[in-house]
Amino acid sequence: MNQNEKYAAIHYHSYLGLDKVLDAQHPRSGQYGKEAHDETLFIIIHQVYELWFKQIIHELESLVGLFEADAVDEKNIGIAVSRIERINEIFKLLIHQIDVLETMTPLDFLEFRNFLFPASGFQSAQFRKTEVMLGLKMAQRFSYQEKPYYNQLSAEQQEEIKDLESRRSLFELIEDWLERTPFIKCEGFSFIDEYKVAIAKMIERERQAIETNEYLSPEERTARLTMLGANGEFFQQVLDPAIHAQKIADGHVRISYDAMIAAVMIHVYRDQPILQLPYRLLDAITTMDELMTSWRYRHAQMVMRMLGKKSGTGGSAGFDYLMETVKKHQIFKDFHHISTLLIPRGDVPQLPDSLKRDLSFYYSTK
Ligand code: HEM
Repeated sequence: MNQNEKYAAIHYHSYLGLDKVLDAQHPRSGQYGKEAHDETLFIIIHQVYELWFKQIIHELESLVGLFEADAVDEKNIGIAVSRIERINEIFKLLIHQIDVLETMTPLDFLEFRNFLFPASGFQSAQFRKTEVMLGLKMAQRFSYQEKPYYNQLSAEQQEEIKDLESRRSLFELIEDWLERTPFIKCEGFSFIDEYKVAIAKMIERERQAIETNEYLSPEERTARLTMLGANGEFFQQVLDPAIHAQKIADGHVRISYDAMIAAVMIHVYRDQPILQLPYRLLDAITTMDELMTSWRYRHAQMVMRMLGKKSGTGGSAGFDYLMETVKKHQIFKDFHHISTLLIPRGDVPQLPDSLKRDLSFYYSTK
């Protein structure tokens, strides 16, 4: 829009739709007798959550759009990082909001809990949308009462969720983007071959350090050497495409082999200027996953405090169900495991000069 164009004046109140927003709190306890003082807090906290979920979905839609292109415009990686960082700041707020809710005591909650049945967080379509857009798959979910999770949503919301399930999630789009990473294999340099050699050297050095350490007893030395042997085997196994494929088939790993190797490479060479932003992107996604898990855990702890072992208004086992989701509903778990494959900077293979130049900001006056 042209900034010089004439446009209608608007009042703060109507711009923000405050008539609707501020008229949307209707404590049910008041409708059935004496109003429970804390029910307003309970309603407002949930409404604020839903508003923030809306903002998170807005950011996720834009992220999916940026990564849906076959070749992601490199200029967009910086935008993607800042949008994920925004989501992360929102998640921190969402976690902190539970402190406000916990100023309500379990006894105060009981003043109006009966009026809520069978309303539950289970029916938050926006929360489900967020999970699906990030990449939580049906098969990975911990199901309760053997019913699909979207059963509790309206027919229209179910259609929307099923449609989202059939589209590529952020997890899959980031995986595709990683698989397309150039530089992993180029003339005179194969990252994976060099990395395997570097790991073998590092393990050999550690072996020698154990064998020559005079402070270790023979038993301790044997135990440490055994551990080191297992460690070396672990590295070689993880870096083997056939074993990786088996781990995917067994459900222990989700990310493809090529995407994982690209992620390791981005981590170890992140000081190269061109890899800085991809590294920050992976780091921000890992933080997002961690924050979402922290929210799940914090919510479960609060539920334990409010309800003890009572079942939820949505029909689940309550705390026990929620703790299962903490363990099973992590979406980017593989990104956390990248750390297992990292080796100290001093052991990382040297890049050939030509590749180093390609990974730098190169400016020529010619
Ligand atoms: C007194 C406060 C709260 C209690 C006692 C509570 C309790 C529960 C329980 C027991 C469940 C499991 C489902 C069920 O059987 O109902 C649940 C799920 C859920 N709650 Fe809460 N909740 C509270 C506050 C909140 C708030 C403030 C939010 C923010 C939106 C929220 C969002 C959710 C969501 C999204 C789920 C689904 C989780 C999943 O299936 O992974 N809850 N809640």
